[in-house]
Amino acid sequence: MMRVKRFFVALLAFFVLCPGGAAIAQQVVKIGVVGEFSGPFGDYGAQILAGMKTYLKLHGDVFGGKKIELIVKDTTGAAPDIAKRLAQELVAQDNVDILAGFGLTPNALAVAPVSAEAKKPMVIMNAATSVITTRSPYIVRVSHTLPQDTQPIAQWAAKNGIKRVFTMVSDYGPGTDAEAAFIKAFKAAGGEVTESVRSPMTNTDFAPFLQRMKDNKPDAVFVFLPPGSQTISFIKGYEERGLKQAGIKLIATGDLTDDGTLQAMGEPAIGLVTSFHYSAAHDSPENKAFIKAYVETNGTKLRPNFMACAGYDGMAAIAEALKKTNGSVEPEKFLAALKGMKLMSPRGPIMIDPDTRDIVQTVYIRRVEKIDGILYNVEFDKYPDVKDPGKQS
Ligand code: PHB
Repeated sequence: MMRVKRFFVALLAFFVLCPGGAAIAQQVVKIGVVGEFSGPFGDYGAQILAGMKTYLKLHGDVFGGKKIELIVKDTTGAAPDIAKRLAQELVAQDNVDILAGFGLTPNALAVAPVSAEAKKPMVIMNAATSVITTRSPYIVRVSHTLPQDTQPIAQWAAKNGIKRVFTMVSDYGPGTDAEAAFIKAFKAAGGEVTESVRSPMTNTDFAPFLQRMKDNKPDAVFVFLPPGSQTISFIKGYEERGLKQAGIKLIATGDLTDDGTLQAMGEPAIGLVTSFHYSAAHDSPENKAFIKAYVETNGTKLRPNFMACAGYDGMAAIAEALKKTNGSVEPEKFLAALKGMKLMSPRGPIMIDPDTRDIVQTVYIRRVEKIDGILYNVEFDKYPDVKDPGKQS
């Protein structure tokens, strides 16, 4: 009996210690997390990673017999060349099985060909320009697209007495997607778009844009800006330059009133109506459990936002796929496991569209309210099962 035991202990030691750790490597699934962890978009990577870690804290880190290992890389901002090099290194040197993360569209677009050539599953946890998923058959998106989040607010505005709208978007992929989607849906609902302008991606001086809006005298302004110092600066300018007082309403996708930056916007944000797929105020047991675990895992420095939620759901999708494939990350098998997958997310029910590999989800209409001294996006209407309209033109 003792001899048999000793034999197994020796066998185990051999596998554990064998050169190159080949036996161990088989038991691990490596995820290369490429994100923005420094610079003006530094919170994007932090939120995504915090969401992924929250999932692992709640559900353990072994799925389909494989232990999850995260290898985290910082693009330092919107830096497509760096993002591509990091992804190539992750594939060639670190032997990652899956690429994940991607807050910003330019970084996701730069890495898509790496995923296509190396046949690596790539899970997009924010970047929201519609076209991204078409750039590699191994991409799955668990976040949102701008057309998906924009169409409902355009329809809602037309139904709620808003007839003439001025649009302003950030001048890159998600912004131009939002602009096109807004114009299409608002016109289809009988509205008029009076003027459309685009601001540089990292612009924080909105004075000339706000003046033009004021002179134009629309019923409302529709805005897409990526969250951060520019959204805070825009809201302050909208108040300071008297647009609110002039009766010009502000409508937007929820990127503008993102939970991570909302508190810093203060009073001027109160009353803003936006459409979006996630709110920290979403009333469900899944969201309560997510927020509690997020704080326990990551502390209170950041307030969980939509990127954290997508990081959590992306990790959930990877975990469920590994369970289905018994731990195999063979690309065709792994993608088949992801296609059509349904999950109950902290944001509500979600599905990976088996045809487009993009997410199908509920988009909520919300209003910013102060609850116990804290600003929240309070949901009051919803559009269920919204697909990416950007793929249906
Ligand atoms: C993007 O770069 O695709 C992006 C960034 C921030 C957002 C949405 C989309 O809020």
